[in-house]
Amino acid sequence: MSVSADDFRSALSRFPSGVTVVTTKDADGRPHGITVSAFCSVSLTPPLVLICIEKTTASHDAFSESGVFVVNVLKASHQHISEQFAAPAVDKFDTLSFRPGIDGVPVLIDALASIECRLQHAYDGGDHTIFVGKVEHVTTGQGTPLIYHQAEYKKINS
Ligand SMILES: Cc1cc2nc3c(=O)[nH]c(=O)nc-3n(C[C@H](O)[C@H](O)[C@H](O)COP(=O)(O)O)c2cc1C
Repeated sequence: MSVSADDFRSALSRFPSGVTVVTTKDADGRPHGITVSAFCSVSLTPPLVLICIEKTTASHDAFSESGVFVVNVLKASHQHISEQFAAPAVDKFDTLSFRPGIDGVPVLIDALASIECRLQHAYDGGDHTIFVGKVEHVTTGQGTPLIYHQAEYKKINS
């Protein structure tokens, strides 16, 4: 029995997620950033996380080229940052404040959390690649997370 693309999307959209901007750099040292909701923890010992990146994105190959990435967890007030990094642009980093993190990869200064990773594994995941990173450094901030649910941005009311 096969599942239609519409049914698949409809079911998966009912699962709420946080929103991250994952940054890396390419072989020429140019920064790349992409809005990613497919992020989760994998292991505590050793500390591992995974991200799933679509193979057709402009940033895809940069993850393997640099072997490092930073997961920046967005705050509720960061919808514009999510939109900025979900659209193709020459310089997505223009208007925001970043500092250099692991191997010089940009870390979003106002992130709710930033998780700096060294690439350990890359697995085929259909039209995505599953990148598993070992966490080398974390930074945390204050605030509430941006949520993505049923193709809309939402905030936690608490
Ligand atoms: C809320 C949200 C979540 C997203 N999650 C992912 C994801 O987990 N993996 C992915 O490959 N693309 C995801 N995207 C799409 C990418 O952000 C988008 O394709 C982006 O333009 C890719 O940038 P690039 O082509 O410049 O690398 C998401 C987009 C949005 C708005």
